[in-house]
Amino acid sequence: MRLYVNIDHVATLREARKTDEPDAVQAAAACERAGADGITVHLREDRRHIQDADVKALAGRVRTVLNLELGANDEIVRLATRVQPFQATLVPEKRQEITTEGGLALRKTDRRLQHAIARLTKAGIRVSLFIDPSLKTIDVARELGVPAIELHTGAYATASKERSNERRRAKALNALREAATHARHIGLAVHAGHGLTYHNVQPVAAIPEIEELNIGHSIVSNAVFWGLEEAVRRMKTLVNAARNP
Ligand code: PXP
Repeated sequence: MRLYVNIDHVATLREARKTDEPDAVQAAAACERAGADGITVHLREDRRHIQDADVKALAGRVRTVLNLELGANDEIVRLATRVQPFQATLVPEKRQEITTEGGLALRKTDRRLQHAIARLTKAGIRVSLFIDPSLKTIDVARELGVPAIELHTGAYATASKERSNERRRAKALNALREAATHARHIGLAVHAGHGLTYHNVQPVAAIPEIEELNIGHSIVSNAVFWGLEEAVRRMKTLVNAARNP
């Protein structure tokens, strides 16, 4: 199980003052020292946190692998093909949203998405699609020819906050399990992420078909108290323990 740490919110803090700290490259190095298997950043159209210069700097300095999240936006796809991260995760993007709110609404005939997948793949970048845990959507992802999907864990994360609603949480977890099994069965690599925290990560990490988790907000939030390296170490320990009980 790989843990990729999303460091967007290190840049959020920097952009709050439009200054030069905290530095994203330094943050990536700290995550790697603590055992992160990869670094994830989302270059949003509105550049609210990560900037083009961060992506370029990280591409040269990350020692593990860089996973770039992006919408199917021509300009950002072009930047990705130049910078050549190891992996590109295509996500839906709405300007007004606080964070990525749902998975991609996949259609086999979506020319924009097909074009983005083709350009990234041609540049030698592994492409993953961020989707909801729906079996039909997984089948469309397969038809689009990508090697990997990332399952949106947001519904499970939201249900996990409402302790009174154990049934909803169990249902959301089951949907992730079924989706992961189906995706693996049809040959897709399975990643997962969004809203995962120190409290809710273990049942997801225990799903055997999931090989990669992308976690950001909770790790960066707790870094305020524990430091970034310790925050990554503690998450990695939880993930490993869930995987090898
Ligand atoms: N995976 C994807 C595709 C995302 O868009 C995000 C949020 O940027 C994450 C994972 C990480 O979510 P969180 O910050 O809630 O851990």
